[in-house]
Amino acid sequence: MLAALYPGLRPLLFRLDPERAHDLGMAALRLAERIGLLDLLEHRELSKPVELLGLRFPNRIGLAAGLDKNGNTIDALGRLGFGFIEVGTVTPRPQPGNPKPRLFRLRETEAIVNRMGFNNDGIDALVGHVSRARSFRGLIGINIGRNKDTPNESAVEDYLDCMRKAWRVADYLAVNLSSPNTPGLRELQQAEACARLLARLKQEQEILTRSTSRRVPLFFKIAPDLDPPQIGELARVFLDGGLDGLIATNTTLDRKAVAGSRHAEETGGLSGRPLLRKSNEVLSAFADQLSGRIPIIGVGGVSSLEDAREKLRCGASLVQIYTSLIYRGPGLVRELARGL
Ligand SMILES: Cc1cc2nc3c(=O)[nH]c(=O)nc-3n(C[C@H](O)[C@H](O)[C@H](O)COP(=O)(O)O)c2cc1C
Repeated sequence: MLAALYPGLRPLLFRLDPERAHDLGMAALRLAERIGLLDLLEHRELSKPVELLGLRFPNRIGLAAGLDKNGNTIDALGRLGFGFIEVGTVTPRPQPGNPKPRLFRLRETEAIVNRMGFNNDGIDALVGHVSRARSFRGLIGINIGRNKDTPNESAVEDYLDCMRKAWRVADYLAVNLSSPNTPGLRELQQAEACARLLARLKQEQEILTRSTSRRVPLFFKIAPDLDPPQIGELARVFLDGGLDGLIATNTTLDRKAVAGSRHAEETGGLSGRPLLRKSNEVLSAFADQLSGRIPIIGVGGVSSLEDAREKLRCGASLVQIYTSLIYRGPGLVRELARGL
């Protein structure tokens, strides 16, 4: 039904400012869910479940972080067929994000540039929303970050704060080290800083596991803008530090793939089809180094079943999408979930 409606809706949405279209789309989804419209979508299992890190994913397709920053649209998004939904990035305190406009469509290449800057209502609000999600039967990841005005030296305190509060409602936690829109954040991908952060978060994971009798796996989300020596060093850090899972990748600062397009030079991270190749190179390089010892969620530029299969061939166990939802519509989720 939604798959059939979207081609008609898309030109209307694309006439709006991108952020207004986003807000409107999410509000419409929540309304459709509340009045039972989405009940018309079939509930049949879309594929065989996948076991990973002690978790049972109903299928391999997930929603990438950043679409549902506050976790208030989980049930409605779940109806589209996602096996897992990653909410956030959330920070300890609410923050407004960067000044608008901060979201740009590069239509010819099915890409987006964003510099949202972690606009969100804070961890307490998000935990409230997640605990009120009812109908979604997939898994919920919570992606955590630091506030803009927290310096990197004390970033660990922000991650710990979010981790403790998110623990009881998250199936997994994703530590965002790779948003290009929080000044300095990507410096946490430098091997030494990353090792220190991982050690402290693993220590907290043990404490929380003991006190709650429930273990929540820790994923780190990394950038596609890493060179082979950096990837080698980071892989060592992840293996030595006992990281549970990796999410590869976030958006890129590289504009080579969209040179000359309108909005290509806007500051921010590029996502969508032009990211696929670069993101796959980084995914493959990590998969080689980690040789199956740390599972990877592949994300970046997937807009077809063939792209999703390619992520698995590069070494991913699960796949997330974001930008292609906007260009291809919500019908894509079921198509991918069934096909993988
Ligand atoms: C508008 C927008 C906002 C995003 N916000 C976040 C975020 O808050 N945290 C995060 O880890 N990734 C964020 N991302 C990155 C996506 O999760 C994903 O890694 C990236 O877009 C590549 O996937 P795609 O090509 O399928 O969109 C955002 C992406 C977009 C387009």
